[in-house]
Amino acid sequence: MCGIFGYIGKREALPFILEGLKKLEYRGYDSAGVSTIQHGKIFLNKSCGKIARLEEVLEARPIGGSIGIGHTRWATHGKPSDENSHPHSDCSDQITVVHNGIIENYLELRRQLAEEGHKFTSATDTEVIAHLIEKYFKETGSLETAVRKTLNAIDGSYALGVISEHEPDKLIAARKGSPLLIGIEEDETFIASDISALIKYTSRVIYLNDYELAVITENDIVIKDRDGKTLKKNISFISWDPESAEKCGYTHFMLKEIHEQPNAIRKTIEGRISAESANIHFDELNLTEKEIKNINRVVFTACGTSWHAALVGEYLIEQMVKLPAEVEYAAEFRYRHPVIDDKTLVIAISQSGETADTLAAAWEAKSLGAKVISICNVVGSTLARDSHGVIYTQAGPEIGVASTKAFTTQLSVIYLLTLLLARTKGTLTGAEIKNYIHDLIELPGKIEQVLAREHEIEKIAQKYYLSNNALFLGRGKGFPIALEGALKLKEISYIHAEGYPAAEMKHGPIALIDQNMPVVVLAMTGKRYEKILGNIEEVKARGGQVIAIANEGDNYIQEKADEVFYLPKSPIAVSPILAVIPLQLLAYYIAVKRGCHIDQPRNLAKSVTVE
Ligand code: F6R
Repeated sequence: MCGIFGYIGKREALPFILEGLKKLEYRGYDSAGVSTIQHGKIFLNKSCGKIARLEEVLEARPIGGSIGIGHTRWATHGKPSDENSHPHSDCSDQITVVHNGIIENYLELRRQLAEEGHKFTSATDTEVIAHLIEKYFKETGSLETAVRKTLNAIDGSYALGVISEHEPDKLIAARKGSPLLIGIEEDETFIASDISALIKYTSRVIYLNDYELAVITENDIVIKDRDGKTLKKNISFISWDPESAEKCGYTHFMLKEIHEQPNAIRKTIEGRISAESANIHFDELNLTEKEIKNINRVVFTACGTSWHAALVGEYLIEQMVKLPAEVEYAAEFRYRHPVIDDKTLVIAISQSGETADTLAAAWEAKSLGAKVISICNVVGSTLARDSHGVIYTQAGPEIGVASTKAFTTQLSVIYLLTLLLARTKGTLTGAEIKNYIHDLIELPGKIEQVLAREHEIEKIAQKYYLSNNALFLGRGKGFPIALEGALKLKEISYIHAEGYPAAEMKHGPIALIDQNMPVVVLAMTGKRYEKILGNIEEVKARGGQVIAIANEGDNYIQEKADEVFYLPKSPIAVSPILAVIPLQLLAYYIAVKRGCHIDQPRNLAKSVTVE
């Protein structure tokens, strides 16, 4: 949510900043801006709209300099407009600031500053930061001290980049509650909201922690804590391949990421399993056998698509580990006085590892004595660092705002973690675990078979893309997949879509069904197959259009449904991972045909770092 990129070095800053912002555009894309210092003077250009619009503005009014900051915005305070775009300046236009997060006490600060004579030009919370730095610089004559005093005065969350004519050789960065990384190369340093913007330039990064402030000059990086004490920080190495953040010939990141799923799952499971010994190992899980035996309940917490992955986990844990399992929306969990203790295993799932509500839920669970394990895609993310243990999905950077490969790799990790718990608790035999591992190993090949038939989905999309509504139905582990299919469709095509447990349809949603309502039914063979057929009959009897996702060899379903997409046969426990692929493709092709912005759907941001 909002992307920050900054550069300091020997070369022109602007091309780096623009390139970095493009990589971060998925975090927010309603406006963008840059500020640089050249020959000791601040320059600033910003505009409402995407980065392409900012580039046009910069072409007309170029700015130079080898130090600068940039921002791509997802509006919280103040509508998207030129004035509300970042960077924001002080009264004298000598200090510029980019900010990701929310300043909770900004109204009170703004009133005080206005009384002291400061003139505000935007409706944002961020602008108070520029004016506070101005005020404290006047008092102290030091940019670093002024920024530190400002941080002490504000409540809320921030990742910040600050430059100023007063000390034109410095870039100051700080964080509390919103991610910020420092990328290091010979003779140049970068700041960025996430790794994907840095991997083109460097593989060496420093993760800033909350309340840390970095003073960066061309030759030095000094990181200090909130009291101004210098800290020794470790440099981490990023293993992501720079190509992974490029489209590589695909029209959209989302399509590329859908196609990356077989290999992402292979990478996620490789090195962690042994089908021969039924052994499963996660390097950073940090749970002893004794601790696992002590667990008497599992609580998953997450948001959005990651929450859907958690729902599948609930079914798996109950079925295979025989433990009570629950799934909580992170935003509800954090405020609900949850009843958990040291026997509860809390599993927090987040692609980004920076989702504000999921972080708060994990902290709450920790404070109540639970063991917190996170499932994250981003190495070194806040959630990964703040959990007792972490399992990384190996999906590589996910740039498309609609989550695809993160979801299927999360499901793969949950599946393996479930087997590990079952093995330790003795609820599955070694032979059963071997079979389950084998099923997962086979899965990427089956996903490849589905992807090879994406033209079939495209044809279905052609028939239904003008619909205004859609219903997704599933039973058992198919229910969370119905929810995920509906979420994918609504977020990128703007078609109103709902996911329901198929049996619930009769309790209300059935009233919506008519000839204009496509109903996607997850109708894979299994224990509840007959019941699903019954639900299809109910839809057809009311004139609805049925798109069935079924198992190959099921000729019967053709007579019932208007469209059928066949999945290669697969065991029921891994079938959710396979069944979501055609739903991702359906959402994708419908959105393409409707002319939507696939990778950057309206109003959304990839990483929701505010409440
Ligand atoms: C939907 C989507 C969102 C995220 C949600 C949580 O396609 O991407 O619903 O799943 O914002 O994000 P993470 O997993 O980063 O915590």
